[in-house]
Amino acid sequence: MPSSPQQARIAVTRSVSPAMACCELTHLPRTPIDISLAREQHAAYERALESLGCHLERLPEAPALADSVFVEDTAIVLDEIAVVTRPGAPSRRAETDSVARLLGRYRPIAEIAAPATLDGGDVLRVNRTLYVGRSGRSNRCGIEGLAALVAPFGYRVEAIPVHGCLHLKSAVTLVAPETVLVNPEYIAPESLRGLEWIEVDPAEPLGANALPLGDEVIYPASKPRTAERLRRRGVQVRVVDVSELEKAEGAVTCCSLIFAGDGARES
Ligand code: GLY
Repeated sequence: MPSSPQQARIAVTRSVSPAMACCELTHLPRTPIDISLAREQHAAYERALESLGCHLERLPEAPALADSVFVEDTAIVLDEIAVVTRPGAPSRRAETDSVARLLGRYRPIAEIAAPATLDGGDVLRVNRTLYVGRSGRSNRCGIEGLAALVAPFGYRVEAIPVHGCLHLKSAVTLVAPETVLVNPEYIAPESLRGLEWIEVDPAEPLGANALPLGDEVIYPASKPRTAERLRRRGVQVRVVDVSELEKAEGAVTCCSLIFAGDGARES
């Protein structure tokens, strides 16, 4: 029997815009994107989310917003509150209104306000710490604003400078409760003290983005060497092909916002 939204994890997604070929690109050259294939890949990604216990909440399509599939950047959802961001790329700021409306059904809403900028892709939660990338997208004001909003709920914010990649979660993601997958070229070695590191294969510099769900991680087919490293360290890998989304400088965490439904809050 399918789980109800109250019981399941919620995964917020949005379909691929037909304009995705005009997406923001910072560290990648523009290459042709097959939008039909991108849509098929996104549908397979959504099926993977469902098979790992998520109840999908699909945002209304936003055909004019090229990057709107990358919903992660628009909010940080904690058990107590959802913080709607002010994305660093001006072209992405119109994505947040519909996200705030949907999330308001699940959480009290707070917002990051100008001149602050913050992308959800820069926020990595580990227990009660939010590591936040000081990147081209998230400024000091955004990081301080987030810290002030979440402090009353017992969260600590730690800024981490990011170099050579788009977001903190291009450099590091959680793959097990105390273990992170890292590209050490993109963040300082003293970052994320106390956590166990698994390094990406050097041939796969963009391989540090994995999406943990239950006992598995969703992981891109384009990074087989790092996938093998994960398996060797006991991480169960669910491979999805997201080649067309990767051409838009997206990755597996970017395409969803995942949080506990009301009846199943996570610690
Ligand atoms: N194309 C994803 C981003 O730059 O936000």
